[in-house]
Amino acid sequence: MINRREFLKSASLAAGAVSIPAVVSSTVLGQSGRAAPSNRIVMGCIGVGWQGGGNMNSFLNENDVQVVAVCDVDKNHLNQARERVNKRYGNQDCKGYGNFREVVSRKDIDAVSLGLPDHWHSIPAIAAATNGKDIFGEKPLSHKFAEGRAMCEAVKRYGRIWQTGSWQRSKSNFRFACELVLNGRIGKIVKAEVGLPAGHTDFGKTKGQETPGPAPGHLDWNF
Ligand SMILES: NC(=O)c1ccc[n+]([C@@H]2O[C@H](COP(=O)([O-])OP(=O)(O)OC[C@H]3O[C@@H](n4cnc5c(N)ncnc54)[C@H](O)[C@@H]3O)[C@@H](O)[C@H]2O)c1
Repeated sequence: MINRREFLKSASLAAGAVSIPAVVSSTVLGQSGRAAPSNRIVMGCIGVGWQGGGNMNSFLNENDVQVVAVCDVDKNHLNQARERVNKRYGNQDCKGYGNFREVVSRKDIDAVSLGLPDHWHSIPAIAAATNGKDIFGEKPLSHKFAEGRAMCEAVKRYGRIWQTGSWQRSKSNFRFACELVLNGRIGKIVKAEVGLPAGHTDFGKTKGQETPGPAPGHLDWNF
């Protein structure tokens, strides 16, 4: 069966044969370093705060990925993420959503990246799997064991691919260190020392906001 790339190539050749100017760009034909649209993984990024936003930036750097949707209950995070996607692709095509269900029900989306708080890992993941999406989901897998089991069962039942985003388990330098240990290259391990950063880092700039107040207008707190 002819694929979309071959179809476009033959269509533009046919157009040339009857002297119609070819208007199909090199990007569409997969000749500009970007995979052809038919060969790209179409993605939605749900939860685009700290880690989810960073993961989205990494997906934007992959030539065979096209991010078409971003979703967040915080309009500030949502708008920043959408602007980043549109700037990267040089268009205004990325759609923004406040409800993840609208993203996972989009037929054109192949996979989703979930960068949500721990207590929101399971329901969107199960909804994504049920809707036939592959999933990159942040660690920890789930907040509760029962949620984790339900997520695994949904991924299995709908034949989806799941990857847990846990970069200290998958980045090449960590992996290399594990393999040195597992293969006995540094001898028998008798002691392990763990170094952790001390204290608390105020990533969210929440210092001084300990007193409860009304939810800010840009946040859909009830959702
Ligand atoms: N892999 C790592 O090294 C690493 C590092 C930091 C965090 N994490 C994990 O990433 C996840 C997110 O952490 P973070 O630090 O990015 O938090 P964050 O608060 O910066 O980001 C979470 C985002 O999700 C949005 N959100 C919350 N509920 C939502 C909902 N129902 N629908 C849509 N959007 C919603 C928030 O508005 C926010 O933008 C956590 O599970 C955390 O454990 C992983």
